[in-house]
Amino acid sequence: MAEIIDGKKIAEDIKREVKQEVVRMRATKGIVPGLAFILVGENPASQSYVRSKGKACEEAGIYSVTERMPMDTPEYVLLARIAEFNADPNIHGLLVQLPLPKHISEEEVIRAIDPRKDVDGFHPMNIGKLVIGQDTFKSCTPAGIQELLVRSGNDPAGKHVVVVGRSNIVGKPIANILLQKQSGANAVVTVAHTGASDLTSYIKSADILIAAIGKPEFITGAMLKEGVVVIDVGINRVEDSSLPKGYRIVGDVHFESASKIAKAITPVPGGVGLMTIAMLLRNTVKATKQLS
Ligand code: GUN
Repeated sequence: MAEIIDGKKIAEDIKREVKQEVVRMRATKGIVPGLAFILVGENPASQSYVRSKGKACEEAGIYSVTERMPMDTPEYVLLARIAEFNADPNIHGLLVQLPLPKHISEEEVIRAIDPRKDVDGFHPMNIGKLVIGQDTFKSCTPAGIQELLVRSGNDPAGKHVVVVGRSNIVGKPIANILLQKQSGANAVVTVAHTGASDLTSYIKSADILIAAIGKPEFITGAMLKEGVVVIDVGINRVEDSSLPKGYRIVGDVHFESASKIAKAITPVPGGVGLMTIAMLLRNTVKATKQLS
């Protein structure tokens, strides 16, 4: 049976490190890191994510403010609010929760965020730096995946990493992070996706498999190479009438069959998801240091 990579424990370790750093910054420089969230509309998942992020800030000693804007907010009003946070010296990180309502251009909004406050690592300038191996804000989920691998003793150096999924938020950045000639990286990376004519053959060749396709339990044990390390980024709701809430959360990987073949695997929930917030806190401290 596969070893379970404990995202909860690793995330707790990182949050503790961040908290210690926040205490130190406050004591030595009198600086309190500040993070602003902008939430447009009423998407229940987004509301829940932002609440969790705010709570994590509080626990870490980071000042946070959440700006809630109605669904029909015009784009120019949102851009004006972003400009205000960009200019606010008490705010070091700014995060606009995605997705945004259809009438607002995510591209315009991301570009409006000061790259020095872009703790999501979504700004094209920061993505560009990431691709050419310069120091920048790594997007939180990919950064969390790298930490999970390294801290669980599964250094990707020299390994064949297969990323399934090519989103701007996960697939593309994690591929670029792990490709760099840097510690915690230096992997041989293949980016596959559901458009591949023989997706299974790519999956089978992975020493480390990163599943980020958003399809519930799509990857099964039979598709995997014996001894693979599986990082499951999927968070999918599937109907389950036996539960009071009527659904359960599953990953992109069929856990039961995969855990019989893999050397190590992240559970869902309890794996990558918890790392995202921990890395957001770390990026906020990084932004604060660079701005102060
Ligand atoms: N929506 C889903 N994941 C994320 C994230 O990491 N950051 C932002 N801003 N929105 C998201």
